[in-house]
Amino acid sequence: MTELRIERLLPTDFLASSLRQDARAGLTASPKSLPPKWFYDAQGSALFEKITELREYYPTRAERAILRSASAEIAAASRAHTLVELGSGSSDKTRLLLDALREAGSLRRYVPVDVSESALRAAAHRLLAGYPGLSVHAVVSDFGRNLGLPADDAHQPRMIAFLGSTIGNMLPAQRAEFLARIRASLSVGDTLLLGTDLVKDPATLVAAYDDPAGITGAFNKNVLAVLNTQLGADFDLDTFDHVALWDPENEWIEMRLRSSLAQSVRLPAIELTVEFADGEQMRTEVSAKFRRDGIESELAAAGFAMRSWWTDPERLFGLSLSVPA
Ligand code: SAH
Ligand code: TRP
Repeated sequence: MTELRIERLLPTDFLASSLRQDARAGLTASPKSLPPKWFYDAQGSALFEKITELREYYPTRAERAILRSASAEIAAASRAHTLVELGSGSSDKTRLLLDALREAGSLRRYVPVDVSESALRAAAHRLLAGYPGLSVHAVVSDFGRNLGLPADDAHQPRMIAFLGSTIGNMLPAQRAEFLARIRASLSVGDTLLLGTDLVKDPATLVAAYDDPAGITGAFNKNVLAVLNTQLGADFDLDTFDHVALWDPENEWIEMRLRSSLAQSVRLPAIELTVEFADGEQMRTEVSAKFRRDGIESELAAAGFAMRSWWTDPERLFGLSLSVPA
């Protein structure tokens, strides 16, 4: 019997209180910035799906290629009974893992965790049809606050998948805290499958975050639309330009919004008026790029031992499987 449960772990005042706090803190700081989790309302999630189909956006294709060739090995190594996926989005590439785990005979339950309820619901309903007998326990959560991991009932092995290089959207200190928090909730026998985009030539990187069709720009500006809808703000999206640049010191792509004129923006819900200078830039997201040694040490610092490492033939993307050390 296929079963679907959707659990909401977001505090009831998530939008009312967290977004307000983040908007106030970020827009009154110097330089201004906004945290990336607010990109993902229904419109943002839909725009992200379009990004994954862009010719310039190689990470999704590269990670899918790795999963296609390594999923049987991953299933055999993890023997997972429960697959938990953080930031699952469309759960599209996940099918390769679900297929392999089903083939290996260990899979009972899939727990997709995402802050975007619309993406989560759509994905869960699409999956149910294809996997009879699978329990899908979807969790709406901000994984920065609550990972949403189910208890390890009867010590059945769980695999935590964190794909799409979403870990790169955290700053290094947040990454360390996040990996340590995952480690603290795992037991011997559990595994962590982590997708990390790799350092490569800047032109390829920048193109992936600045497509000529402007889809990534529309995604970036969507955070302003969320502030307009949720906080009654009056951002004029046409007066902000999308900026993506490679920071060679930090080895990350930085996405910013640049005000094309001097202007003031009102956010009535938090009684705030914000001034933007002509050309002022506000950081909206980083996307860190990794090297094998670097991510292996970050995992080790959090108490994980990397057991396997795979890349695609062009070495664009890395996928690692780790166990509690
Ligand atoms: N795993 C998918 C989607 C990656 S996009 C893939 O590889 O293609 C990042 C996903 O993480 C989005 O679905 C977004 O809604 C989710 N996300 C971002 N920040 C989050 C947070 N703080 N808590 C939970 N989910 C988050
Ligand atoms: N984590 C992925 C990446 O950094 C997906 C992603 C998040 C993304 N935000 C984005 C892709 C903005 C393009 C633009 O690549």
